[in-house]
Amino acid sequence: MKSNLTYLKKLELFKELDNFKDGQFFAIVDVKAKNHLPQWIQFSPHVFWLKNPEEEKNLETYGQALEFFLRQGISRGSTLYAFGGGATTDFAGYVAATILRGIKWVAVPTTLLAMIDGSIGGKVAVNMPQGKNLVGSFHMPEKVFICGDFLTSLPEKEWMSGKGEVLKYGFLSEEIHKLIVSKTSIEDIAMACANFKNIVVERDFKENGERIYLNLGHTLGHAFEYTLKIPHGHAVAMGLKYMFKIMGLHEAHSQWEVMVKALALPAEKFEISYFSKFDINTFSDYLEQDKKKLDSRLRLVLVKNIGICYVEEVALKDFKAKIHAYGEFKS
Ligand SMILES: NC(=O)c1ccc[n+]([C@@H]2O[C@H](COP(=O)([O-])OP(=O)(O)OC[C@H]3O[C@@H](n4cnc5c(N)ncnc54)[C@H](O)[C@@H]3O)[C@@H](O)[C@H]2O)c1
Repeated sequence: MKSNLTYLKKLELFKELDNFKDGQFFAIVDVKAKNHLPQWIQFSPHVFWLKNPEEEKNLETYGQALEFFLRQGISRGSTLYAFGGGATTDFAGYVAATILRGIKWVAVPTTLLAMIDGSIGGKVAVNMPQGKNLVGSFHMPEKVFICGDFLTSLPEKEWMSGKGEVLKYGFLSEEIHKLIVSKTSIEDIAMACANFKNIVVERDFKENGERIYLNLGHTLGHAFEYTLKIPHGHAVAMGLKYMFKIMGLHEAHSQWEVMVKALALPAEKFEISYFSKFDINTFSDYLEQDKKKLDSRLRLVLVKNIGICYVEEVALKDFKAKIHAYGEFKS
């Protein structure tokens, strides 16, 4: 199963959307994307707005959204639109997956991270107090409209987060690696990343095989995200760097440095020493929550060469011991 990805300019997107102007149009929108949208959507009574999507990606707001759309007369034939970053598309996708036993949905990602990752692949979810994305489903969007014009208002830290996830693709695909090191435009790199993920998902929708490679950098990345409270892609970039260092993958680490430079990312912000507080116990305990864990073994995605990854299973307790022994984690 694969999403229908369309790359378009804002005016072309508006033309698409205008087809629904006089009919029923239901949407969940991040308020930070509001000014990018046509006036009729900005004032539509059928829009459920999210002010802080990551904080609202929970069961309480999910219940409010269900009630809102049922009151507005949503039906089995309706389509739900999602405009926002990955937190909004995850949330809206889960609403679409479950309301009236599932309706169609369309994703319009508005952050770089959502364009290359979050909105593609049909994994939809809400967070629980026990952890992120613990309640969810697989529900593929009918379409994903990717419009780089939304990125003009993206703050620096969200650019950095998106580019952090781009780094991951640079290890998974030789073609994307070449685009990065030759400093191709970020729009073209983003398109290549989105297409790459779409193809992997088509071959392995339910993650029984190669989709696990998309988890590269995420085992430590999720732990950094939780411990340091930093954006997802920033944490993934750190997850890649420290996985390579801990596992002694020197060539992969030097490629990480080459790509960080080519993407004009600030290398010092990916060092543990950059952060004033880092609690090694919170960090290593978080690894227990890794969803890719089998019994008490972690499934680490590692890099052999650019474009060639593999999975290595390690006992959680051995990996935790490695982390505790690694110098930079102690400081
Ligand atoms: N389903 C998946 O496969 C998948 C994959 C990766 C990440 N995710 C999820 O995606 C989320 C992270 O995605 P994200 O980084 O896009 O987070 P996000 O949706 O929280 O957006 C990041 C910030 O950017 C703001 N924003 C959105 N669009 C903007 C715009 N055009 N201009 C200015 N600000 C804008 C948001 O309000 C937010 O403050 C997490 O919840 C993660 O779990 C899901």
